Amino acid sequence: MKETLLMITSLIILFSSFLYVSPTKSNSQPAQCYDHPNPLNWQYREAVPCPVSKQKVITSNLAATDSNKNMFDLTFTCGVKNETTCDRVKETFEIAGNIISSAFILNSVITINASYIDFCVVLGECGSKSGLVTLGGASPARSIPLQDDDGLVRLYPQALVKQFQFKTHPEYGPYDITAMFNSAGTNFWFDGDGNIGPKQQDFLFVVLHEIIHGLGFASNWGDYINDDNPKAITPDVCLVPDDDDSKLKFNGFMESVFDKYIINMSSGHKTSETTNKLNQFANATTKFSDDAQFKAKFKSSSQYQLARDMMNLVTTPSSLGFLPHDSNTTAQAIILETSLNPYQQGSSVSHVDFNTYNNTGDFLMKYLADRGVSLRTMTTSRGCTDIIGPKLKLILETIGYATSDYPNPYKPNATITSNNLNQNVGGNAVVSNSSPKMINLDFKALIIFNLVSIVTAQFFLKDIYI
Ligand SMILES: *[C@@H]1O[C@H](CO)[C@@H](O)[C@H](O)[C@H]1NC(C)=O
Ligand SMILES: *[C@@H]1O[C@H](CO)[C@@H](O)[C@H](O)[C@H]1NC(C)=O
Ligand SMILES: *[C@@H]1O[C@H](CO)[C@@H](O)[C@H](O)[C@H]1NC(C)=O
Ligand SMILES: *[C@@H]1O[C@H](CO)[C@@H](O)[C@H](O)[C@H]1NC(C)=O
Ligand SMILES: *[C@@H]1O[C@H](CO)[C@@H](O)[C@H](O)[C@H]1NC(C)=O
Ligand SMILES: *[C@@H]1O[C@H](CO)[C@@H](O)[C@H](O)[C@H]1NC(C)=O
Ligand SMILES: *[C@@H]1O[C@H](CO)[C@@H](O)[C@H](O)[C@H]1NC(C)=O
Repeated sequence: MKETLLMITSLIILFSSFLYVSPTKSNSQPAQCYDHPNPLNWQYREAVPCPVSKQKVITSNLAATDSNKNMFDLTFTCGVKNETTCDRVKETFEIAGNIISSAFILNSVITINASYIDFCVVLGECGSKSGLVTLGGASPARSIPLQDDDGLVRLYPQALVKQFQFKTHPEYGPYDITAMFNSAGTNFWFDGDGNIGPKQQDFLFVVLHEIIHGLGFASNWGDYINDDNPKAITPDVCLVPDDDDSKLKFNGFMESVFDKYIINMSSGHKTSETTNKLNQFANATTKFSDDAQFKAKFKSSSQYQLARDMMNLVTTPSSLGFLPHDSNTTAQAIILETSLNPYQQGSSVSHVDFNTYNNTGDFLMKYLADRGVSLRTMTTSRGCTDIIGPKLKLILETIGYATSDYPNPYKPNATITSNNLNQNVGGNAVVSNSSPKMINLDFKALIIFNLVSIVTAQFFLKDIYI
């Protein structure tokens, strides 16, 4: 049964890696971001200075007047020799860009660096090894720490940060999203190809799914402690090299914007409360000689049990929900994927619950995709007209994307005033109202996170190797 399911579907998996990074120390400029310039190697990061700079405000009246304008700017590398195929791939990005641009009010252009290449040749990612073949992957090209209203600093994808149109903000990288799609070992169906074959995969589904991960539909909860055998779940670990010696200091467990809205369905409590408790493990005065020592100390701490409890939660069906804006009951929460046991990095949590939503208009962000059915047929057969389902729309509105129904979404602050480490925060406490700790509007704002590492989530869509 499980095998049959696998045969007719595709598996969406995310890989992420531990976040120790070695930045260049010579740079006295405090603000630091991390880029992933190579979409073929998600573990490769470059520390880049991203000083807070004045925004060149590009007010796009076009966006307001022409909701059909495609707000995605594609840089495309086609790695196959077949021009027809290259054109089809490009057209699909165009279609996906139009779908998202008409569903949301985007005021800043979103840039994507995408490639269509043979993963086996270029990546060494060949289907025969695992029995699965990777169809595609995407991630935010840069993540930027911003101050949230509950006192926590969270990582926001650059695509979303741009929409906030801050007067000053950490410097942006050239691309918002990097994406790659596998030209080999797959059997993509493109719009206009005639009837979809029983083993074919609608390329538009893959592209839309991946772009939405790149827009911020992504959790940072994962196992960063146990390398091969996940046992404990925390947000991304921020270890930064100390200025004056070779040790590492701990800057906290770092959530993504998506994680701000996750709740424990049995208690109704935000999982950010657990993050705050986890953060009591250590603070920046605690030094670690390397990440192995950090892992060992964390494992023997009292906070480790919280991470074990979270592992229990992410492998128990219907135990985590996303609480969208204007809602305050667990019944209103959108159930996240926590049915997979063992836990699957990147399939668990960062998708909607398969069983609840497969047959609804919100199927797009389920972790398994279908073969033999086009995205449009999936949509109409569920009685829907919009490919972006109502709950998916709610989620993206909640993290900060505006729509005509919800034109003024929540906006975090580009100035970091508190990282809330070692502070006991339940709901809304903390943002210091009098004199915030480290404020020098232009360049020092990010100093406590100057060397913070960022999420390196890559979202891959997989399929059985044929
Ligand atoms: C864009 O993607 C291509 C193909 O993967 C890569 O070679 C190139 O370095 C990327 N460009 C940037 C600026 O990241
Ligand atoms: C190019 O791809 C199209 C389908 O996308 C196929 O029909 C055609 O045969 C291919 N051409 C070559 C020369 O392989
Ligand atoms: C989730 O809530 C239930 C019910 O209150 C509680 O027993 C459980 O420990 C919570 N899990 C976590 C990880 O907080
Ligand atoms: C940091 O942690 C140490 C040891 O747990 C503690 O003694 C100290 O008060 C903490 N510092 C801050 C600023 O919270
Ligand atoms: C929950 O939300 C409803 C409607 O948005 C509101 O009327 C109600 O007062 C809220 N309840 C609490 C406890 O915040
Ligand atoms: C999920 O939905 C697809 C249609 O898109 C259907 O073919 C498939 O049987 C469904 N899977 C389950 C397990 O309900
Ligand atoms: C952001 O935070 C700074 C410093 O606390 C404050 O002066 C400013 O008003 C805040 N901006 C917004 C939009 O809340």
